[in-house]
Formats: sequence, structure tokens, C-alpha cells
Amino acid sequence: MKPPIPVITIDGPSASGKGTIAQLVAAQLGFHYLDSGALYRIVALATQQQNIAWSDAQAVAECAKRLHIIFENEQVLLNNKDITNDIRTEAIGKGASQVAVHAPLRDALTHMQHAFCKAPGLVADGRDMGTIIFPNAPLKVFLTASTEVRASRRYQQLINKKQAANYDDILQDLLERDERDQNRASSPLVMADDAILLETDNLTISQAVAFVLQKYQPFIQFSA
Ligand code: CDP
Repeated sequence: MKPPIPVITIDGPSASGKGTIAQLVAAQLGFHYLDSGALYRIVALATQQQNIAWSDAQAVAECAKRLHIIFENEQVLLNNKDITNDIRTEAIGKGASQVAVHAPLRDALTHMQHAFCKAPGLVADGRDMGTIIFPNAPLKVFLTASTEVRASRRYQQLINKKQAANYDDILQDLLERDERDQNRASSPLVMADDAILLETDNLTISQAVAFVLQKYQPFIQFSA
């Protein structure tokens, strides 16, 4: 029997540093990387373009099933159009958290997320990677940081990308998004029982990456 493909899940709230840390861990291990939030962002953008209300669960899910999405290096293509920057705005982030409450959409995206799990391994980041999508992952990390630190990081991210940014709006938006992500009925943001908590307020990115890699060490030795 073939050994299972190793998966590391990194879940946590908005702007906790999941994406950056997950990408660096994947690069270090030579693993594939799944940015599951990007899928919800793509759906928010595509539905907006097609005048589908973010509140319309069935129409949103149907739209998602028809999308042709390609992740290529750092780029995201939707129906062959580069939408890498379009999905990173705060407005689309807000839309993503609104469409993400719909169970039919989450079901429609499950298969797509499982398809990322290929040898030699996968690092998956999101809200429900360890609880719902990859419940058997050998290593699950739950990243957190205080709301203020997360708002500052998001502010800096937007400024670096030369996008409009207002700290107070970002903070308010994060609080709303946390509330929606944690309290929705379908796959809410919760820490898996077997996840390791990593609080990143006082950690640099490389310290957080080193922590995850160190926790993964026993599994490398085990599979060797
Ligand atoms: O960049 P940020 O951490 O704010 O968000 P993201 O990871 O790009 O995800 C955008 C939105 O998609 C989140 O606010 C969640 O509501 C939703 N999401 C989700 O429900 N489940 C996931 N696995 C990933 C994202």
C-alpha cells in the first residue's frame, strides 16, 4: 500500500500570517501549496462580475462549479484572465467571507481542494483545513495574533502593494470578518482538537516558519 501523502494544515483568522508562513514552509519542504482563501476570493470576484448576490447560496455555488481556475507560480488565472491582484482587495476579502458562509459553496470547493494533495506533500492554509478538508493531516497548526497586530500587518501589506489603506477601517473589517468566520454554521473557524497553537504577536516570520518545520521533523524521520 502506498504511504499517505503528508499534509500540513495551517489555519487561523485573517491576517494571522498563515499565507506567508505556509508558502515558506512549502518551499522549504518542496511541497505543494494550497491557498484555500484564494478560492473563496475568486468566487467573490466572479459572482460580483456576473451580478450574482453574495447572499444567494445556490447561485454562488453554481457559479463556482463553472469556474476555470489556474494557479500558476504566483499568478491566479480565472477563465484565462490574470486576476492575481483583483482578488487581493479588502472589498473582495469581505465578499469572500460572505460567500464562505454558504454550505453548498463549501461543498462545491471541497473536491477542488482535495485535488491539491499530491506527492511529495501539501501545505494547506485556511480556516477549516485541519477540521474539515484534511482532518487526517499529521501536523496541524493554528496561528493566531492579536487583532491590533493583525490589522497592522494587513495595513502594511496593502501599503506595500500600493493599495488604499486605512488602519481603523481595516481593524473594523477584521473584527467583522472574525465574527462571521467563527460563528457561521458551516465549517466555522475553530482550532482542531489535535492542532498546535502558535501565537505570533512576538514572532518574526522566520521564527514561525522554523517552529512549523521543527514540529514536522518527527514525521520526516518517521516516513524515511
Ligand atoms: O487574507 P485573509 O486571511 O483575510 O483571508 P483569506 O485566507 O484570503 O480568506 C478570505 C475569506 O475566505 C475568509 O475571511 C474566510 O471567510 C474565507 N475562507 C474560508 O471560509 N475557508 C477557508 N478555508 C479559507 C478562507
